[in-house]
Amino acid sequence: MADLDGLDIKLNRPEKKKAPKGYEPKTKAPMEWGMKNRLSRVIKPATGRTVMLAVDHGYFQGVAVGLEDLEDTLLPLLPYADALMPTRGGLRTCVSPDWDIPVVLRASGGNSLLGELSDEDLSVSIEDAIRLNVAAVAISIYVGAPNQHKTLLALSRMVDEATRYGIPVLAVTAVGKDLGKGAKYLSMASRIAAELGATFVKTYYCEGFERVVDSCPVPIVMAGGKRIPEPEALELTHNAITRGAAGVDMGRNIFQADDPAAMIQAVSAVGHEGLSPKQALKMYEELKAAGKGGK
Ligand code: 5RP
Repeated sequence: MADLDGLDIKLNRPEKKKAPKGYEPKTKAPMEWGMKNRLSRVIKPATGRTVMLAVDHGYFQGVAVGLEDLEDTLLPLLPYADALMPTRGGLRTCVSPDWDIPVVLRASGGNSLLGELSDEDLSVSIEDAIRLNVAAVAISIYVGAPNQHKTLLALSRMVDEATRYGIPVLAVTAVGKDLGKGAKYLSMASRIAAELGATFVKTYYCEGFERVVDSCPVPIVMAGGKRIPEPEALELTHNAITRGAAGVDMGRNIFQADDPAAMIQAVSAVGHEGLSPKQALKMYEELKAAGKGGK
């Protein structure tokens, strides 16, 4: 295997304590108007952050806990999400086209929990994505996994096609099972995604997350992952934001929370208003107690 020492560079980067004023895209590459406008619908210019709600689990999982009735789950949450990440089937069947919500459409797939998950390819054409009026498309890459080559080329292909129409591409990073979810390989996967042309990247929080952010020239949103207790999920969000994330793309930690609508509001307050984990938990508990979460 090639020498990966370059990935161990230490970046003594101070924590970002304040939300940036106005949106300053990390990318140095000039962005064409349509691309920038679509990206601004997802990553809000006022704070430079986004709270994306991920509900695309069905594409490899079928029925996911909390998404048995997708429309029912979504109704109380949509008012608080900056963007929605659904499958095209979920979008067409369970989201009213009257909702003014930017869509980051899951556009890769081809396997299930019963097969080799990395065995994915593009699953939605750019024409259909345009027909659905998406703000961006999301493509998974599996670095260090059996289908690394195929998924990296699928990302590149989608970048070629989407760029033609000014549509941003979100690369969703996964790394081979044996590699763990540490900064070394998440950083490698995120950087590869950016080098292949992804407009923004979704990756997991890890120790040394600031290294992952700093070594990636495009914005990074934090992936949610398995459900954890609400105080921990809020802490994770805060850690990612203060270490440079441009927001979160969270599913189970919102829609499987005891009070999903209270949770998305608390996550949003961390992301956009800089609430501390303690303040956000208080907000969550108060909304939940007052029945104002909208559950
Ligand atoms: C994997 C994905 C999933 O499809 C989904 O969006 C995961 O969401 P969560 O882990 O927050 O429930 O994109 O990264």
